Amino acid sequence: MTILVIGSVNADLTVQAARIPAPGETVLGGDAHVSPGGKGANQAVAAALAGAQVKLCGAVGAASDPFRSPALSGLTRAGVDLSLLHTLDAPTGLALITVAAGGENAITVASGANARFGPQQLPADWHGLTHLLLQQELTPAVTLDAARRAHAAGLRVVLNAAPSRSTDAGLLAHTHHLIVNEHELEALVGQSVEPSALELAAQSLLKRGPQAVTVTLGAQGSLTVTAEATYRLAAHRVQVVDTTGAGDTFCGVLAARLAEGDALPAALHWAGLAAGLACTRPGAQDAMPTWAEVVAAQPLR
Ligand code: RIB
Repeated sequence: MTILVIGSVNADLTVQAARIPAPGETVLGGDAHVSPGGKGANQAVAAALAGAQVKLCGAVGAASDPFRSPALSGLTRAGVDLSLLHTLDAPTGLALITVAAGGENAITVASGANARFGPQQLPADWHGLTHLLLQQELTPAVTLDAARRAHAAGLRVVLNAAPSRSTDAGLLAHTHHLIVNEHELEALVGQSVEPSALELAAQSLLKRGPQAVTVTLGAQGSLTVTAEATYRLAAHRVQVVDTTGAGDTFCGVLAARLAEGDALPAALHWAGLAAGLACTRPGAQDAMPTWAEVVAAQPLR
């Protein structure tokens, strides 16, 4: 079982501050810290840590680019196969992140090479791959083309519709498992959704293609609907330090555990647990728990 992640690779430039600046405001923070990030790379690392064989297809800048090496460090450490990584004549993606005292963040992404990655850079051969894990940090044309080709090749397509951007209707038709947060859910259904209507809204998306829709709810856990069942999982209670990459941890671990043959409720349990643990340390990939830490935190009952 091999998961292919087609997605963004960034270096994260993070500053801890008392609060996230309001428009026009300057806030003094701590020292800046560079660490590996990007939703695609984060999810690839999370999936690899959870026991899956993972390949990443994406793009970074040239060897002389100062952010290339930090952007790739976590992927290399986690053993992600980078044979489908492209080097483009563009800067490596850079995310400017402010983390507030309560662990919340604000992120601005300078996409660089991620935005220059085109459909021509997608793999020609899908042989030996079982799952495709996608986000929305590459261009919409690339994401749609990747989902379409993977679906046609018989892969199961897991889409994390983050960050929220206009999603082509065809994309959901090629998605087997959709993962969204509440804002992304609202963007996809085209209206605001009260907490009491979350299940109905998620179910409405099943009609557009996916066989399962998961809504991540932060401290409230997650809600997943399929045609047959609804699963509500509570969040793992933790002392939150930094939520950066927690959603990516959830997506990567969920895809990995499904690929490894876990039933959906078990895969959701592990994904939620790993995401909670990822909030207890600073950074995205740097904060992700090892599989041993996840299993030790709360064995499946
Ligand atoms: O989801 C968190 C990620 O979003 C960060 O690592 C940053 O690089 C942005 O892509």
